Amino acid sequence: MQQLTDPFGRRIEYVRLSVTDRCDLRCFYCMPKDFNNFEAPEHWLNFDEIERVIGAFARLGTRRVRITGGEPLVRKNLPGLAARLHALPGIDDLSLSTNAVQLARHAEALKASGVQRLNVSLDTPNPTRFREITGGKLKKVTDGLMAAKAAGFSPIKINMVVMQGVNDDDVEAMVDFCIEHDFTLRFIETMPMGDTGRDANAHFISLKNVRERLERRFKLVPGVMPGGGPARYMRVAGTALRLGFITPLSQHFCETCNRVRLSVDGTLYLCLGQEHSVELRPLLRNGIDDDALDNAIRQAITLKPERHEFNDKPGQIVRFMSMTGG
Ligand code: GTP
Ligand code: 5AD
Ligand code: SF4
Repeated sequence: MQQLTDPFGRRIEYVRLSVTDRCDLRCFYCMPKDFNNFEAPEHWLNFDEIERVIGAFARLGTRRVRITGGEPLVRKNLPGLAARLHALPGIDDLSLSTNAVQLARHAEALKASGVQRLNVSLDTPNPTRFREITGGKLKKVTDGLMAAKAAGFSPIKINMVVMQGVNDDDVEAMVDFCIEHDFTLRFIETMPMGDTGRDANAHFISLKNVRERLERRFKLVPGVMPGGGPARYMRVAGTALRLGFITPLSQHFCETCNRVRLSVDGTLYLCLGQEHSVELRPLLRNGIDDDALDNAIRQAITLKPERHEFNDKPGQIVRFMSMTGG
């Protein structure tokens, strides 16, 4: 079995696939309200092209694929794509990260298509605050979550970006919500991506503070959770709840990075926090054969940088999060 290993000895076995750069919310830390500089549809990889690239990664030892956006459910017939990816030999962990606004309509079809795991962004259980942060309606998200549960998704992980003075006082209520519904809750530190992310940096709070705050009310004990990502887990004693901490700033996890990102236009980004990238779309549209595609991917992996520089260079221009998915 072939394997992809980067220059720092890290095995690359997780591809995050962005199927659109569009989104049906406007979280203030992610994308500007009036943003409309989206990728032209003729530049979107079509499903055949996506299947070819993921098929190549699978030949090279990738087993995990996470579908992201933008908001992936705004791409037409996403369950159809998921089914094709699920059928690829070697892909045994197919997951989706979504804001859940349209999940109620799609949950069953997604489950049937072979999506195994769902991560849902939700920063607050308060409808007014939800509207302020995202511009959208909380009810749609909670309906989506309940539909996902009914469709049999388990575990369902909730991703909460914690921001000082915005939603840091919601952490206890989110814990209660997740205990009630049997969701896993993960806290995330804001990253200075794009102008919006840099503005949100004013609200940065280290998850160390969040943990201390929770420890005043809950007893936290070490925990584990299946998944391929950077979260470190604790359990809330006396409950089934697991809490994940994703700390790109206060305790970065780049030494164990296992992933690369494919954007909707077929650009392979080697790191979330850096611009190193290789354009695969021209190769695909010029009729590259499978061996040459595998080689192009192997070459691309040699460009993977060691780590992000969010702490050292917070002003560095990095694309909006919505272009590559978190
Ligand atoms: P699991 O496989 O379930 O562990 O998923 P995951 O945590 O890899 O995926 P998810 O899409 O839920 O990611 C949650 C958040 O973690 C993202 O929105 C980002 O904020 C952050 N994150 C994920 N991957 C990376 C990464 O490679 N680097 C950094 N700096 N942050 C990341
Ligand atoms: N910092 C951290 N995470 C972000 N996301 C978007 N923008 C940022 C940012 N600046 C991630 C979060 C959120 C998802 C939509 O994208 O995980 O849940
Ligand atoms: Fe990997 Fe870059 Fe994320 Fe670090 S910031 S974990 S190197 S993608």
